[in-house]
Amino acid sequence: MINMDPRQQFLALLLVLLLPVLCFQPCYASSVTRRFRFNLEWKKVNRLCTTKRLLTVNGQFPGPTITVNEGDDVEIKVTNRVANNTTIHWHGIKQKRTGWADGPAYVTQCPIGRGQSYTYKFTVAEQRGTLLWHAHYSWQRASVYGAFIINPRLPYPFIAPNRPIHAEIPIIFGELWDKEVDDFEATMLATGAGAAISVAYTINGLPGPLYPCSAKDTYTATVEYGKTYMIRVINAALGDELFFSIAKHTLTVVEVDAVYTKPFTTTAIMIAPGQTTTLLLTADQLPSDPTATFVMAATPYVTSIFPFDNSTTMGYLKYNTTGTISKDRTRDLSVKLPENLPKMEDTKFATTFTNRIKSLASSQYPCNVPKTIDRRVITTISLNLQDCPQNKTCTGYDGKMFMASMNNQSFLRPSTSILETHYRTGLGTGSSGFPERPLNKFDYTGGNASTMNTNMEFGSRVIVVPYGTKIEIVLQGTNLLAPENHPIHIHGHNFYVVGTGFGNFDESRDPKGYNLVDPPERNTVGVPMGGWAAIRIEADNPGVWFVHCHFEPHTSWGLATGFVVQDGPLPSQRLLPPPKDLPAC
Ligand code: C2O
Repeated sequence: MINMDPRQQFLALLLVLLLPVLCFQPCYASSVTRRFRFNLEWKKVNRLCTTKRLLTVNGQFPGPTITVNEGDDVEIKVTNRVANNTTIHWHGIKQKRTGWADGPAYVTQCPIGRGQSYTYKFTVAEQRGTLLWHAHYSWQRASVYGAFIINPRLPYPFIAPNRPIHAEIPIIFGELWDKEVDDFEATMLATGAGAAISVAYTINGLPGPLYPCSAKDTYTATVEYGKTYMIRVINAALGDELFFSIAKHTLTVVEVDAVYTKPFTTTAIMIAPGQTTTLLLTADQLPSDPTATFVMAATPYVTSIFPFDNSTTMGYLKYNTTGTISKDRTRDLSVKLPENLPKMEDTKFATTFTNRIKSLASSQYPCNVPKTIDRRVITTISLNLQDCPQNKTCTGYDGKMFMASMNNQSFLRPSTSILETHYRTGLGTGSSGFPERPLNKFDYTGGNASTMNTNMEFGSRVIVVPYGTKIEIVLQGTNLLAPENHPIHIHGHNFYVVGTGFGNFDESRDPKGYNLVDPPERNTVGVPMGGWAAIRIEADNPGVWFVHCHFEPHTSWGLATGFVVQDGPLPSQRLLPPPKDLPAC
């Protein structure tokens, strides 16, 4: 304060005194611990003309929303009040050094048994936006899921001063089933049969007016003319990519998988299971209809030849200009699909939309895509037909069993957690690891693969890398049984989608076309039907991380592997010790 006049000195002193107050939110990592209680319990739920019991968290369907601030410590005590085992996964949370809290059964923990509790403890750092949580045991995600929202430390980078966000609208997609979902996996694996399919899609647990007895079970979002809303879209479905649109309205994409994007407007979105998309919507349509209501709808993006749930869930966007609609009025509301909803097979729309998603790549939110790599793994992702074991009858195609694999390895969950094995004994690299190239080269996406021998090897092989490795994984779709768009999800890390294409990946040609400037940063990538996706990861999170198709039936069939990041040299680069209440197998 040597050269300051008294007034400047006073201001400087004031600033120093006020700094802790002014900076409480933006300047310090918050040391707040947010605690939640999740009780897994059955709940009778009435939908589609019947009452069925659903597995729920705290009796809610969909489950409770978790809202935290960036930088918070989070503790969620999960108590299992049912006979079935369970685990919960915080999908997209990076879990730096806290793999014990990640959740996938037999990968990072043994399941929580009946009557047991386990407290998931982790810090939410360096990520912000919309994510989801869901059960990660068998097919329990069918009803055990909810939103996980991280409020940012700094103001949103995409808000124009004249368009403040008036309110948030959650749009969580799920499905309804006509049987006990817990039996599906076991039945399917025992017989080799195709996957069970859902009977309805839902928006926030409600199927909407296109299904029987469901007009009363319709989600309605109420908006005010001229205001801007943040729509948090989450696809928690087990088996379907979805298109979503709102009649007459445009949507602005600002964030995917809790990473900001360059904003762009679109008439509809495509969203794969496990993905999240945050949208801005301005209520700028003057409804001429006296009901002041616009239809919103989600319908599957179909790329597979397998049977699928060929139905559409619908909700309403209602302007509150004319007061509330009466019960009778609800019945008269339009059930015409939005004019901007893509057709179910519209791969062109899906591709164009997905390719428009780019990282924000600003100085505040840089895109840290590895420009060089230490290692490239190329893996096929495929559906397979496995010969039926002797003395068994298989009901898959041609008397065989439907299965799935990566580089011909069909993943079997071990009987104890891989993370515990890794922590106690270390997992070796070398020949016991996951093959880094396809074992047999063939025309993955062309020709007639139906005559090939597609039998697989079964096991739990994983990719092992030293801390800090910059790894590229090329996910090569195949048409072995059928080409299909597979949403591949990686736990514990975000990755950059540096390239995608149709047909076979060409290692000498395709890397030249990579986007190393502003590729999207995600936790789940839809690998194009009959094509490939190249992703880059900086392996900076020690632990064992599940890699799998987010179609639950495909994971059951073995379309999965593990990604093991070894400890680094510094104490801050090591996996933390397991918590005391970690369930045992
Ligand atoms: Cu959203 Cu391994 O899952």
